[in-house]
Amino acid sequence: MTTVSIKNTKEIKKMRVAGKLVAEVLEMIETYIQPDVSTEELNYICHNHIINKQKAKPACLGYNGFPKSICISVNDVVCHGIPNYKNKLKNGDIVNIDVAIIKNKYYSDASKMFFVGQPTPLGKMLCEVAKKSLYSSLYIIKPGIYLNQIGKTIQKYVEKHNFSIVREYCGHGIGTKFHEDPQILHHNYYNSEQIQLRSGMTFTIEPMINAGKCEVKCMNDGWTIKTKDHSLSAQYEHTILVNEKGCEVLTIQKGETIPRILCNSY
Ligand code: MF3
Ligand code: CO
Repeated sequence: MTTVSIKNTKEIKKMRVAGKLVAEVLEMIETYIQPDVSTEELNYICHNHIINKQKAKPACLGYNGFPKSICISVNDVVCHGIPNYKNKLKNGDIVNIDVAIIKNKYYSDASKMFFVGQPTPLGKMLCEVAKKSLYSSLYIIKPGIYLNQIGKTIQKYVEKHNFSIVREYCGHGIGTKFHEDPQILHHNYYNSEQIQLRSGMTFTIEPMINAGKCEVKCMNDGWTIKTKDHSLSAQYEHTILVNEKGCEVLTIQKGETIPRILCNSY
């Protein structure tokens, strides 16, 4: 049986603080995403910001042995790209930056796509569909709905646009641990254990969308996940809180086209 923790008011306050910090890192790094910058430089800037400015901890650093403070996944890298000084960004790249931090014992986790210079029409469209697929799921979240409605909604949106959804990685409950129950799948699935959402649940939704086929493969470094067919991949991730009427996007950033609080019931 899966038990999902319900956060109380005090815990929610800390989740909000952690969420704001993650959002701030993703806003801060945008200006540095330029041709010729190495992914290690971007890691270094984020790391210092998290440690020195935010007095927080980068959650990825040392997590299951992950060697850097953030994940940077470029083009056909689906997720868990390891920052490296040899890996330099170039015009047309699509780049996912995935930031997770710990503040006052609470975790928050979010990621978004950036364009280096001018994106290709396909790169731009893929990122747009990935973002909108995440948003489409936020508009259905409220207490009482079944968890698999999230994946169902994302899948419908993505497949309408003829892209595919990675099955191997999913969203997750989050709180005083990086990864808590439940798992949040990004596609429709059957589960005899039907979990219903309740106010006070906090979890991530983080669909990975491929331009080609959904299959992925792990590189020899044991971390970097790429599309098997070398097609482009895009991901957006938010940490969200289920509230009485809908949800609150704890990692919302400036410039997003959704409100922080979504009222999804009357
Ligand atoms: N932020 C990602 C997640 O949702 C990646 C974490 S794996 C790490 O779990 F090891 F790179 F930290
Ligand atoms: Co996550």
